[in-house]
Amino acid sequence: MTVRIGVIGTGVMGAEHARVLQGNVSGATVTAVADTVYDRAKAVAAETGARSFQSAEELITSPFVDAVLIASHDTAHAEQVKACLTSGKPVLCEKPLAPAVGECQDLVSLEASSVRGNPLISVGFMRRFHPAYQGLKAQLREGVIGQPLMMLSSHRNVRSYPGGDSASTITNSGIHEIDITAWLLDSPIETVSWHAPRSTSVDGSRQDPQVFHLRTANGVLTIVDVFLNARYGYDVRCEVVGETGSLELARPQQTMVNQGLGRSRSYADDWRPVFADAYRLQSQAWVDSLASGTPSPLASATDALNATRVAEALIQSMNAGGATVAVNPEVTIQAQSSPGSPLERTLSHVH
Ligand SMILES: NC(=O)c1ccc[n+]([C@@H]2O[C@H](COP(=O)([O-])OP(=O)(O)OC[C@H]3O[C@@H](n4cnc5c(N)ncnc54)[C@H](O)[C@@H]3O)[C@@H](O)[C@H]2O)c1
Repeated sequence: MTVRIGVIGTGVMGAEHARVLQGNVSGATVTAVADTVYDRAKAVAAETGARSFQSAEELITSPFVDAVLIASHDTAHAEQVKACLTSGKPVLCEKPLAPAVGECQDLVSLEASSVRGNPLISVGFMRRFHPAYQGLKAQLREGVIGQPLMMLSSHRNVRSYPGGDSASTITNSGIHEIDITAWLLDSPIETVSWHAPRSTSVDGSRQDPQVFHLRTANGVLTIVDVFLNARYGYDVRCEVVGETGSLELARPQQTMVNQGLGRSRSYADDWRPVFADAYRLQSQAWVDSLASGTPSPLASATDALNATRVAEALIQSMNAGGATVAVNPEVTIQAQSSPGSPLERTLSHVH
């Protein structure tokens, strides 16, 4: 049984996902790619043997596509996920599901009201599949360091993408830290505050770096720095400090060079080599769930809604000079049954 996948957005991540799905995930084939910049779609189509489209809508409704992976711009996600739901097709949407709580809420609502059977939306919080984060979570659950007390995390990129602002640092990059904090600690984030040192001179479009304080319901305080123009390398750190010790994320992607009476460490330029295993394992888990008709083990639309709620609280704190802000608790979304809806179609044409 092979799941035929269409990839929307063939920039840095979409091209990577297409290559991984085509070359490193069993039971999947990439049959279509789409990008508004059509040359990009054509280049990835040539590499993978897929059809190319300029329009996401055409890809979603193509009879050659069973399931869709969305790696377009954050602001395009909500509309494209909605189109997948309307076509009854499972979708793996890159994080964030959408930058605004209202958009996420609408998608959770639409999914709940339309689908009988497995939920159609999965979200690409791939750190949950990273072996080092999984090891850390397993040891926390075993109580290796006793009760966790605080967590210290860093998220540093070499350079920011053009076109962002201080809020998009939170909804686009900080969202990874938000999701992984609640997931690792098995506890929702209840209050947040946002802080800023002086800003780097290399990016006039946003406050950079930013520091978040995230307090989970179990009383753990997490301090995260997000620095998009750190320049020296792509660097993700995480240490959980507990009552009897600390657990730290290993960074096996780094190389130590001993030379010329010195020792140096090399960093990756971006996230792809660092989280290569996580992207592959996440895609494999998604494809396996589609092929077997079992629920997706990836982050759900509700997980993504919760992360965006925290992001929105951080933006509120930012606009209020760093005040402590409570995260709005989840609102229960009423499912309305709609028998006969096209969303009830599942993977009948997977083969
Ligand atoms: N999980 C991760 O580690 C990770 C890392 C980087 C980016 N991302 C996410 O992946 C997505 C893509 O990021 P990227 O770094 O590849 O960006 P990118 O700018 O390199 O690529 C985005 C591509 O989408 C295309 N696009 C934009 N709007 C579109 C639309 N409406 N329809 C079709 N194509 C459209 C653009 O032309 C571009 O080629 C973003 O949502 C981003 O937040 C996730």
